[in-house]
Amino acid sequence: MRVNLPGGPRDVKAVWWEAGEVRMIDQRALPERFEILPCRSVEDVARAIESMAVRGAPAIGVTAAYGVALAGETGAEAAIGRLGRTRPTGRDLFHALDWMAARARSGGDLVEAAKAYAAAGEETCRLIGMAGEPLLPEGCRVLTHCNAGALATGDHGTATAPMRRAHELGRRLFVWVSETRPRLQGARLTAWELAQEGIDHAILADGACGVLFARKQVDLVLVGADRITASGDFANKVGTYEKAVLAREHGVPFYVAAPLSTFDLATERGEAIPIEERSEEEVTEVGGVAVANPGSRAFNPAFDVTPARLVTAFVTEKGIMRPEQVRSLRR
Ligand code: MRU
Repeated sequence: MRVNLPGGPRDVKAVWWEAGEVRMIDQRALPERFEILPCRSVEDVARAIESMAVRGAPAIGVTAAYGVALAGETGAEAAIGRLGRTRPTGRDLFHALDWMAARARSGGDLVEAAKAYAAAGEETCRLIGMAGEPLLPEGCRVLTHCNAGALATGDHGTATAPMRRAHELGRRLFVWVSETRPRLQGARLTAWELAQEGIDHAILADGACGVLFARKQVDLVLVGADRITASGDFANKVGTYEKAVLAREHGVPFYVAAPLSTFDLATERGEAIPIEERSEEEVTEVGGVAVANPGSRAFNPAFDVTPARLVTAFVTEKGIMRPEQVRSLRR
């Protein structure tokens, strides 16, 4: 992605390999500061994932692949174990670790394997953009949630890839960005990415989405996914499910953009997806400042599950697929 920095524009990925270390944009600092976080050990990489310096299912996968490369052939098995315990919900992490385990077993160069994994993911997102762009007609108003952009994938994004492509083609579009409490990935990261691209957008409080639908100000919903099961149920950032319910109530199409690496065909239904629960402080504090009643408990599931019946279609690198077609990917 091209970012506009004080020293001029720079092409950068969410995460990359340089000078024998894993480097990433520290997403905790955005949009206030553009900082690069270097990771020199597997533990550094695991903590970067856990603390959400890097986040978004495909970007976590790429980061973990580089983490295994840092460990080298002798440390690969232990690295895979440690990295596999960082964040449980996203499928891509395990896809990436399986990829690296296979390369380690065959004695391949792990740095080259991780770079190839990252490059394949970027190309996949570019293809998702091509497949999804026709869903965005001239003048459409799209609602998205969380950040399924270049920061979450390495480059291009999943949900944002069709938006970028439509914008490149000169089509007019407007993006509603729900803020995404508690960590504000929408307000901080998606809004930052759209601003870098010059795509017209506005941020709204999560609770304001119903007003948008009731006023007929949304033409389609386009979100990413962390894990999609064989039945087409899928997990994504908490708050996605309620948008799908609103979309159905108001007759608005609801699309999910994701690479095939996010599909977990061994899991049949959404109830079986492990849902990460994060700290209570993420809810009771904003930016490290307490905002809630002192002593009150908090509930903080990082993801929710949307049933397949609420999904209009999935947008993948292979094209557009209805939920009932997901199972056929097993072939
Ligand atoms: O907790 P996060 O920020 O890692 O959650 C990210 C999301 O839910 C994204 O929508 C999803 O990973 C798709 S990213 C292309």
